Amino acid sequence: MPDTELLALQTDHIQTLQQRYQKALLAHGYDGLLISSGAAPMRYGDDQSYPFQGYGPFLHWTGLAGQEHSWLLIRPGRTPVLWLYQPVDFWHANLDLPEEPWQQAVEVRFIQHREAPSMERAGKLAVIGDPATVAQVPGDHNPGRLLVDLEETRVHKTPYEIACLVRANEIAVCGHRAARDTFLGGGSEFEISLAYQRATGQREAEAPYQSIIGVNEHAGTLHYQFYDIDGPARARSLLIDAGVRFRGYCSDITRTTPGAGEGRFAALVQGLEQLQRRLCGMVAPGVDYVAIHRKTHDGIAALLSAAGVVSGLDDEALVEQGVTRAFFPHGIGHYLGVQVHDVAGKREPSPADAPFLRLTRTLEPGMVVTIEPGLYFIPSLLAPILDGPLGGHFNHAVIDDLRGCGGIRIEDNVVVTDDGARNLTREAGG
Ligand code: GLY
Ligand code: MN
Ligand code: MN
Repeated sequence: MPDTELLALQTDHIQTLQQRYQKALLAHGYDGLLISSGAAPMRYGDDQSYPFQGYGPFLHWTGLAGQEHSWLLIRPGRTPVLWLYQPVDFWHANLDLPEEPWQQAVEVRFIQHREAPSMERAGKLAVIGDPATVAQVPGDHNPGRLLVDLEETRVHKTPYEIACLVRANEIAVCGHRAARDTFLGGGSEFEISLAYQRATGQREAEAPYQSIIGVNEHAGTLHYQFYDIDGPARARSLLIDAGVRFRGYCSDITRTTPGAGEGRFAALVQGLEQLQRRLCGMVAPGVDYVAIHRKTHDGIAALLSAAGVVSGLDDEALVEQGVTRAFFPHGIGHYLGVQVHDVAGKREPSPADAPFLRLTRTLEPGMVVTIEPGLYFIPSLLAPILDGPLGGHFNHAVIDDLRGCGGIRIEDNVVVTDDGARNLTREAGG
């Protein structure tokens, strides 16, 4: 999509938000809503701050992920006012603000101070943001019932948001290609991270989350957080879970690549890939997301049997006895938007058989979700099964071998449409 079209969509997006927020404010009796962009907290006992990424509702309106100490005022029937912190400062630079059409739909003012602007005549005011940042601002801070309704405004993505998510996928897919090539060329986790950053043109601190780059057994730690500087002696597997932000919007993509000569692991990756595509095919309006999660367990059971990991137990028993949960311990996915785990996924708590599932709702057009089945060889989860009463059904030699490959996850970003779904990651060539 050309930039002009994207920018035109952003103006429509702001109009839609104005209507959605207005409805929520009036329903809760507020005359105005002041949104803080946030501020990076300082490290205790230090003069350095943590990396900064803006507060979700601020990004929902502006997409300005790196803009600290700024404020946005929303009032029913009035043009939003955005106070951007742009100090005269010889230590730090200010963010560039290219002239774009959205600035006709929002009144932009620049401030030199970090404190909220005076709101004396704003009437009954709700103020939302990190409690530490809004502490001194008069008004109701983070009122719970209003927040629930505001989170709901983020569930059904506007065409502008979908367009941003498309771009976030396209950019991340380039990074994943570079990462795979670097792994196959014998690169280390650190070199894979550099290749990903170079290809996406994004430093890691700006990404929606720190990339998860696990070579060999590291792929078996779900959120593996370190990088080996040296390449592996034998490159058996790569799991990379990495996204980018585009105008505030996140991609969240995982790919697993087997090393050369890893036939058994490669077959399992292929099996999980087929399962993942089937699960993506289930995404449609009216579908219970929990049903997709449960279907994943059936698929994992079938894969474990087909790979010779287990024998003499039928698929149903593998699911019912909790065996599949030891191999696939996380949820099938979550909402995606200006936060990687976007809000409002759980109107009800997760069911007992899926404690880590972050989304338990029925799918509707405009929702954007991830579909991310995994199959891992995690010693601490497998030990009770292998050493327990079912242990004799498992091929310990095969599991010991696969443990060296860590695990598999394959994750795409999928939009629910009026009659089915669009897989943004596959559309981007991922
Ligand atoms: N990247 C974290 C997740 O997939 O949820
Ligand atoms: Mn992910
Ligand atoms: Mn995810």
